[in-house]
Amino acid sequence: MPFKTRDLQMAAESLRQFRRYSVSPHHERFSFPLLRGTYFTYRKIDVLRVVAIAKAVSNSPGYCDIGCGYGDFLIKIREFISSATGIENSAGIFYGCNLPKPDYITTADARWGIEKKSDIIFVGWMEPGIDFRDAIAAKTDVIVTTLDQGISLAAEFDGHGFERVASWRTPSWEDVNTEIMNRYYTQMSNEIYHSLSRLRGAHNLWYVYSKKRRYSEAIKSALVRCLEQEKRTFVGRYDFEDVLDDCGFKYFEELEISAASKQEKARLWEIQFTSNF
Ligand SMILES: C[S@@+](CC[C@H](N)C(=O)[O-])C[C@H]1O[C@@H](n2cnc3c(N)ncnc32)[C@H](O)[C@@H]1O
Repeated sequence: MPFKTRDLQMAAESLRQFRRYSVSPHHERFSFPLLRGTYFTYRKIDVLRVVAIAKAVSNSPGYCDIGCGYGDFLIKIREFISSATGIENSAGIFYGCNLPKPDYITTADARWGIEKKSDIIFVGWMEPGIDFRDAIAAKTDVIVTTLDQGISLAAEFDGHGFERVASWRTPSWEDVNTEIMNRYYTQMSNEIYHSLSRLRGAHNLWYVYSKKRRYSEAIKSALVRCLEQEKRTFVGRYDFEDVLDDCGFKYFEELEISAASKQEKARLWEIQFTSNF
């Protein structure tokens, strides 16, 4: 559902207030994901992985980000795939962010059909209840989506003619925001802080799908090469990644996970390949 102008105005006002006492300019992207960041947490390696998947499908891939918000992740992708485009149904987001709408983002409702076919479609965290899988499945053979474990079933494409090739886990904005708030903006004893910190979660899953295994092998090889490169060389990073390191969401960090949590034990950013290849 498109955001109401009044809600966006209130969010923009809260952001202005937050800036008065914020201790780092990088915190706001995790506390105000709609206006300043994304609902999933990423590092430069995630951008490079998605670009590598796209280039495994085509040398000059058609790339579309559906529900791209104001385009935070899409802008990073466009550094490597300059023709990448986005579809966003809430024109008000640009008003809320005080940004002009770029030409490469179309304002439209993806449920009523996506005009062009793309080599790869990216869906970064869709609100629970919004289901446009049929529209997406008809317009691409490769999908990368991020979803919140347990509440985003409408983002899973198994059963829509797609097979999951690989997955990895990163924190959602909420995981990081909770940690930032406990650490920097709430008064509590060290003891309480450390006991809360042990409850840290990382609920955002990245799923990579190929239609009928068509590109499965190529995608798998591309991701294996990414992993090798991440371990061998410094592939670059964004300034805001300091916050992730600071809050205990490091590359390949293994979180302490309580028995009650449904979260699988896996190291952050570790790629799991679907075994049936
Ligand atoms: C939770 S936000 C995620 C935005 C961005 N991908 C991110 O992760 O920060 C979901 C976005 O999808 C947009 N959206 C929701 N339904 C849509 C639809 N039917 N067609 C296009 N965009 C849609 C919303 O306006 C919103 O910007």
